[in-house]
Amino acid sequence: MTECASGSCSGGAAPAQDEMDLKVTANLDNIRFKLLVMSGKGGVGKSTVAAYLALGLAAQGYQVGLLDVDLHGPSIPRMLGLKDHARVDEEQQFIHPLTLDHGLKALSVEMLLPKKDSSVIWRGPLKIGVIKQFLGNVAWGNLDFLVIDSPPGTGDEPLTIAQTINDAMAVVVTTPQEIALADVRKSIDFCYQMELPILGVVENMSGLTCPHCHQPIELLGKGGGKALAERFGLELLGQIPWDPRLVEASDKGRPLDLSKLEDGAAGPYRDMVGKVLGHTAERKA
Ligand SMILES: Nc1ncnc2c1ncn2[C@@H]1O[C@H](COP(=O)(O)OP(=O)(O)OP(=O)(O)O)[C@@H](O)[C@H]1O
Ligand SMILES: [Mg+2]
Ligand SMILES: [Zn+2]
Repeated sequence: MTECASGSCSGGAAPAQDEMDLKVTANLDNIRFKLLVMSGKGGVGKSTVAAYLALGLAAQGYQVGLLDVDLHGPSIPRMLGLKDHARVDEEQQFIHPLTLDHGLKALSVEMLLPKKDSSVIWRGPLKIGVIKQFLGNVAWGNLDFLVIDSPPGTGDEPLTIAQTINDAMAVVVTTPQEIALADVRKSIDFCYQMELPILGVVENMSGLTCPHCHQPIELLGKGGGKALAERFGLELLGQIPWDPRLVEASDKGRPLDLSKLEDGAAGPYRDMVGKVLGHTAERKA
C-alpha cells in the first residue's frame, strides 16, 4: 500500500488513490444498491438493523451481501456466528465472502485481520486504505443489495464509503430517545455534506415486544425516529421494537429466523424490508 504517513499529503499518493477508487467502482459495478447503515451514536443497533435487513432481503430471494467495515469493534461475525476466515485467492487477489442461509454473502474486515486485537490503533489514512482495498477486492458477484455496517459517527469509515461509492445510499438508525436524536442529526448533516442520499430512517428499540405473548407494547418514547424523519422530510423505513430474544440470538451467534417469528414480532422487520424494496425500486426507475 502506498500511503503517505502524514495523511495530509496528496502529492505522491494521489495516483494510487485514484487507481484504488477506480478499482472499487469497477468491483462494485454489478451491485444495484449499496446501503450504508449509519448512526451518530454507538449502540443504537446499526449492526442489528444491517444484519436483519440483509437477512430479510435475502429471505425474499434477493442477492444480498453484508459487509462490516468496523475495524474497531466488528460485530457482524459475532451476531451471525461467523467463525471461518474469508478465503483469499492470492493469485487473483480476490477475497471471497462467506455464504449463509438464503445465499446471503457476508464479510467482515475482522475475517482478514491477522489477529483479533482490538487494541490496534488504525491511523486515518491506513484505515481508509484498508477499507478501499477491501471494497475493491471482494468477489461479491452480482448483487441486488450490498448492506454496509459502519461504526458510529462520521469518521473515516462512513467517509470512505461516501467518497468512494458514489451511488451509495444511507440508512440512518436511531433510537427514540432525544439524546440519540441530537447525534443522529449530525449524521444527517454529514449525508447532506457528502451528497449521500438518505434512503430513510430506522427507529430501533422502538417500544417493546412482550417477552410473554410476543405482541408489541408501546412504550413512552416510541416515535422519536418518526418525528425525526418527519422533521427532515425523510422516509421512516421501520420501527423495530426492543425484543429480548434479539440479545440472546446475537450473543449465541444464531440470528432469529424471521419466518418463524409470530406475526406481531415479525411485522416490523417485514415492514422495513418492504419499505426498503419499495423505495429502492422507486429510485431505480
Ligand atoms: N431491537 C433490539 N432489541 C433488543 N436488543 C437489541 C435491539 N437492537 C440491538 N440490540 C442489542 O443492543 C446491542 C447493541 O446493538 P448493535 O451492536 O446492533 O448496535 P450498534 O449500533 O451496531 O453498536 P456499535 O455502535 O457498537 O457498532 C446488542 O447487544 C444488540 O443485540
Ligand atoms: Mg455495530
Ligand atoms: Zn404479553
